[in-house]
Amino acid sequence: MRKVLVTGASGQLGSAINSNKAKFENLNFIFKSSQELDITKQDAIEELLDQEHFDIIVNTAAYTAVDKAEIEPEKAQLINATAVQYLAKSAYKRGIVLIHISTDYVFDGLHNKARTESDDTNPIGVYGKTKLEGEKLALQENPKTIIIRTAWVYSEFGNNFVKTMLRLFKEKSQISVINDQIGSPTNANDLAKAILKIACSEKQVYGIFNYSNEGQCSWFEFANKIKELVQSKIEILPITTSEYPTLAQRPAFSLLSKEKIKDTYGLEIPNWDESLNELLEKKDL
Ligand SMILES: NC(=O)c1ccc[n+]([C@@H]2O[C@H](COP(=O)([O-])OP(=O)(O)OC[C@H]3O[C@@H](n4cnc5c(N)ncnc54)[C@H](OP(=O)(O)O)[C@@H]3O)[C@@H](O)[C@H]2O)c1
Repeated sequence: MRKVLVTGASGQLGSAINSNKAKFENLNFIFKSSQELDITKQDAIEELLDQEHFDIIVNTAAYTAVDKAEIEPEKAQLINATAVQYLAKSAYKRGIVLIHISTDYVFDGLHNKARTESDDTNPIGVYGKTKLEGEKLALQENPKTIIIRTAWVYSEFGNNFVKTMLRLFKEKSQISVINDQIGSPTNANDLAKAILKIACSEKQVYGIFNYSNEGQCSWFEFANKIKELVQSKIEILPITTSEYPTLAQRPAFSLLSKEKIKDTYGLEIPNWDESLNELLEKKDL
């Protein structure tokens, strides 16, 4: 039996891990929300790890407001980098494996080819910069660190693109969606199962891994697939990034290569549209 601490437990991924945990009988969990464990408080981390023995920490806690990060970079740095260093240091002292979640935003999105784990990073905004810093600090402080970079996460939990689209489909007759940013949507439930499979794995391999669903699409194509699956009559117009200005720039092409995680951990990754269908069929969102 391995004991797992999940931080940021009330977030989207933390909730998906909680919802999928029953399938992993050899893992025992403690879930801590931001109220129960603020990862920017090093003393609180130390106190918890002194009280309870853990084999693995899954850090899903993060500052995820991509645009707001541009106006409060210190807060993003504190949560996405400094706090990750605290977690990694405290984990290292106790021989705990750290599974830390990162992002495709560590890349600039200027290459029209799926990025591998060894490709050069070059974040173009504060969020991506602080997440990259967090990756580096985690790997530096704890050699038993597994970084999982993911992208375009959605689920029945929290706020995400799928839930926003479903709401807009009810409220509007026409919407415009960006058609020149390409990526791979990721059902948080698939990502949660992948993380838990890695947590159970006999032989853990440390380092950086990419995980998203298979396939690729633009946000416009993603929106159209949701429309098709829920049989909405909304009109969706394609627009360019320049027609929808935001505080933070986003990578234009953010496909991640999944070969390393599939080969190392024997994962089978569903296609993004199958996973979307599964969520929309099962859940009343
Ligand atoms: N969502 C995506 O599309 C996406 C894409 C790529 C990578 N990722 C990465 O995936 C991971 C999970 O993301 P998510 O979608 O689950 O994000 P989320 O829904 O925003 O959840 C993040 C959680 O972190 C918590 N948190 C913030 N500051 C904290 C602190 N100081 N101490 C403890 N907890 C804190 C938040 O709590 P409060 O709400 O109380 O602040 C929230 O529950 C993150 O590392 C993110 O960078 C996400």
